[in-house]
Amino acid sequence: MEKQEIRTFGRRHGKKLSARQNLLIKSVLPTIKPTKIPANTGLILEIGFGAGEHLREISRQNPEKIVIGAEPFMNGVASLLSAITDEQNSIRSEYKNIRVFADDVRDFLRNTDSKFEQIWVLHPDPWPKARHEKRRLLSADFLELLSNHLTNDGEIIIGTDHWEYFEWIEKQAKSTKLVKNIPGLQTIHTRYQEKNKAGTEAPKYMILKLPKH
Ligand SMILES: C[S@@+](CC[C@H](N)C(=O)[O-])C[C@H]1O[C@@H](n2cnc3c(N)ncnc32)[C@H](O)[C@@H]1O
Repeated sequence: MEKQEIRTFGRRHGKKLSARQNLLIKSVLPTIKPTKIPANTGLILEIGFGAGEHLREISRQNPEKIVIGAEPFMNGVASLLSAITDEQNSIRSEYKNIRVFADDVRDFLRNTDSKFEQIWVLHPDPWPKARHEKRRLLSADFLELLSNHLTNDGEIIIGTDHWEYFEWIEKQAKSTKLVKNIPGLQTIHTRYQEKNKAGTEAPKYMILKLPKH
């Protein structure tokens, strides 16, 4: 990350990790970094996967693809690692296609040419106070960065229960080349969605795609 870049996430560390979680971060995380991604393999990215419930679901649904998750909150990364490993601390067979970038996704994207069939961003931090607006991840600049990492038919799938943030993202998207669709998705259950801090009736979703030529 360039030093002057504004941070879009809160904490990197929460409550103390268990001995097993520390072990997994030390011994398993380095083995699933998203380096040397084979060419001609379908790729999916989830940004800010939290504890990784949805990341695990898309990994199981897409065994032939590589599913990359980016998350700087180490307690979330540790929860994911606990869930995808067995008693011997080996990755369970159904999760062998998961790769993890345990930091700011912008650092990952600026250092890869990879193009994704899907980019998921579920419940990005809403930063509701006006003075924090600059911390919102889904700015026009960031959406442009994502658009450079989409396959021709690729989709950015965004969901938030913070309706004001949703409208703000719609405005940001208008100043990019991306085209918006409102999909008929069922509610996608993630840990954050269950908390529904915004107190709204339901999350709203949008899909952004490259224009057809
Ligand atoms: C409100 S939580 C939602 C987590 C999860 N998607 C869910 O729905 O339960 C937003 C997450 O985005 C992550 N995040 C914020 N900025 C990020 C960035 N620049 N790169 C990767 N993840 C980021 C935060 O660390 C946090 O875990």
